[in-house]
Amino acid sequence: MTRNIVWHEGKVARADREQQNGHRSAIIWFTGLSGAGKSTLAHRIEEMLFDLGCRAYVFDGDNVRHGLCSDLGFSAEDRAENIRRIGEMSKLFVDAGVIALTAFISPFRRDRDLVRSLVEPGDFIEVYCDTPLDVCEARDVKGLYQRARSGLIPEFTGISSPYEAPQNPEIIVRTGHDSLEQCAAQVLDYLRAHRIFSPTLEV
Ligand code: ADX
Repeated sequence: MTRNIVWHEGKVARADREQQNGHRSAIIWFTGLSGAGKSTLAHRIEEMLFDLGCRAYVFDGDNVRHGLCSDLGFSAEDRAENIRRIGEMSKLFVDAGVIALTAFISPFRRDRDLVRSLVEPGDFIEVYCDTPLDVCEARDVKGLYQRARSGLIPEFTGISSPYEAPQNPEIIVRTGHDSLEQCAAQVLDYLRAHRIFSPTLEV
């Protein structure tokens, strides 16, 4: 089927934008259980990158599900579509020269690998927020684990729906063990070492 759509190439390239910004763009993909600290960490890093003069933006699961993905639920199919949309959007942000930080449970390996395949090698940095279920459940910041245990939330990740941990993530942060500042510094060190931003820029 022909859809009569043709890709339009603009004159301003990603490399031009990166040069103007003074840093590379990338997707920093945080994955982990609900309550593992993905959003908190992503927002802290956004703040640090902002202070360094970098263009960075956080996409947060709970927020995106109020708008762009408000039509989606938590079945495996809907989660796949949720992650696909965020992946495509993050890819556009990479082209726009922005460091896109995404905080989604993204429990299925296949969905995360699909996003990885959308961009160039090195553009997708998977950060596994490795906090055990019992710690997330004990925190229960939003009270959702208790509701899920009572059977009030079907297909809740970690309780009645699986979480597939990354097998080879670029970064593993122990968000249940190390402090927020330690985890943020660990990610910043990686970005610096991999020349996402210049090593001369200091927080
Ligand atoms: S994902 O699985 O599709 O990546 P996403 O990160 O967008 O999930 O949304 C997760 C957030 O939705 C959780 O932090 C929690 O607040 C809320 N939520 C509501 N129902 C569920 C559910 N069944 N499983 C997991 N999270 C849920």
